[in-house]
Amino acid sequence: MNTIHDTRIIQLPKIPDERGNLTFIEAGRPVSFVIQRVYWIYDVPGGEVRGGHAYKELQEFFVALSGSFDVVLDDGKERKIVSLNRSYFGLYVPNMIWRHLENFSTNSVCLILASLSYSVDDYIRDYEAYLDAVRRKDICQQ
Ligand code: TYD
Repeated sequence: MNTIHDTRIIQLPKIPDERGNLTFIEAGRPVSFVIQRVYWIYDVPGGEVRGGHAYKELQEFFVALSGSFDVVLDDGKERKIVSLNRSYFGLYVPNMIWRHLENFSTNSVCLILASLSYSVDDYIRDYEAYLDAVRRKDICQQ
């Protein structure tokens, strides 16, 4: 069972240049999963919150391409908040971690690399159902 301790901030390569910096991600490096989908969240009105769910199987990698936001991570036992505000850092989040995104700065852009295509069935949107699933997995692993 994944916990918030399995989430990781990963520094990305940064090629500094007087003409502007460049950062890249390649297949398998540093994101270890096969990237099946890319989406981005932008034009977030002040005070809005995105997410508020967990995924049964999906792994994700978040990058603040522009501006800043906070990713609130919760494994049913512990919570932590990761602030992303540099486009050369990313946050890896494995499956079965409850998350929401908040505190979006004006004009922020959140890029998300995902390990699977979109599937409505992979979402757990009810927090009590998430806690039940965590408890069931804990019992199975005992
Ligand atoms: P959702 O994942 O619920 O957004 P949030 O980031 O707030 O949790 O997605 C919002 C809507 O967009 C929902 O109707 C499903 C759709 N959607 C897709 O069609 N494809 C995607 O890859 C994603 C992430 C969402």
